[in-house]
Amino acid sequence: MAVVPVLSKASVSLGLFVGLALLVGLVMGARFDELYQPSWAMDHFVYEGEVLKLKLDNSSGAGFGSKSKYMFGKVTIQIKLVEGDSAGTVTAFYMSSDGPNHNEFDFEFLGNTTGEPYLVQTNVYVNGVGNREQRLGLWFDPTTDFHSYSVLWNQRQVVFLVDETPIRVHTNLEHRGVPYPKDQPMGVYSSIWNADDWATQGGRVKTDWTHAPFVASYRNFEINACECPATVAAADNAKRCSSSAERRYWWDEPMVSELNLHQNHQLKWVRANHMIYDYCKDTARFPVIPVECEHHRH
Ligand SMILES: *[C@@H]1O[C@H](CO)[C@@H](O)[C@H](O)[C@H]1NC(C)=O
Ligand SMILES: *[C@@H]1O[C@H](CO)[C@@H](O)[C@H](O)[C@H]1NC(C)=O
Repeated sequence: MAVVPVLSKASVSLGLFVGLALLVGLVMGARFDELYQPSWAMDHFVYEGEVLKLKLDNSSGAGFGSKSKYMFGKVTIQIKLVEGDSAGTVTAFYMSSDGPNHNEFDFEFLGNTTGEPYLVQTNVYVNGVGNREQRLGLWFDPTTDFHSYSVLWNQRQVVFLVDETPIRVHTNLEHRGVPYPKDQPMGVYSSIWNADDWATQGGRVKTDWTHAPFVASYRNFEINACECPATVAAADNAKRCSSSAERRYWWDEPMVSELNLHQNHQLKWVRANHMIYDYCKDTARFPVIPVECEHHRH
């Protein structure tokens, strides 16, 4: 049980120092097994120095998860997606809480035939309800090099970032009666699996197993977030992980409570040039536009 001490000015600057140390950590990255462990198919894991590879073949995919659960902060991972023919495969990187009313923030990378573009699908589940898909193409080939994918989560917003460029913002609109995910600790997960019933061109292109194994590579594992011991009740974790008169967490600072001007421009550029699908604009699915969509900048 973590007891939160009454903090002094000295510990506030210690907090700043720790924040800086964690920023440095973002550059360094942690080793896989400091933060994560395999969840399934350990025989489909390959460790090559700092790089972890997950393999998908006709017998299995593979997945890993964080050893701890977290509330608020930022989670980043560098991924090099499946090279060549990746049609039918999905590689996912996501945060999720447990239980039927779980919250979830998803990156799903949908493979494609050789030379055709990968798509990134994002989704946000709140209280067990998703249906908030967005899809975009990337402005680079994600299979030739490592790129960083992050989720920033605080009381005000959930931001999806690709190489630090925001591609999606889910804003807290509780004042408009929209539930916001802020009361359940979340684990961090990644996996690769066969999804050729839907992933590529709507499921028309199937996985070509003669091209297996399909390999996704990972490095620079970084979790800069508030760790939630399993022994602490969710409500107490929420309190521990929120700033108060006694302590400030970096994720509650004004600088990250909304996008800055530059980030707003970046998001606009992504939406204008790379967005392929947005549930907010799908009037066939949603004759009444979901409330959170009114807030989106178009
Ligand atoms: C899976 O792939 C291996 C290697 O290509 C092959 O020998 C085997 O027959 C395949 N198994 C199935 C069930 O398709
Ligand atoms: C795959 O490539 C086709 C053709 O360029 C494109 O229409 C599609 O959106 C791409 N991505 C997926 C996941 O199907």
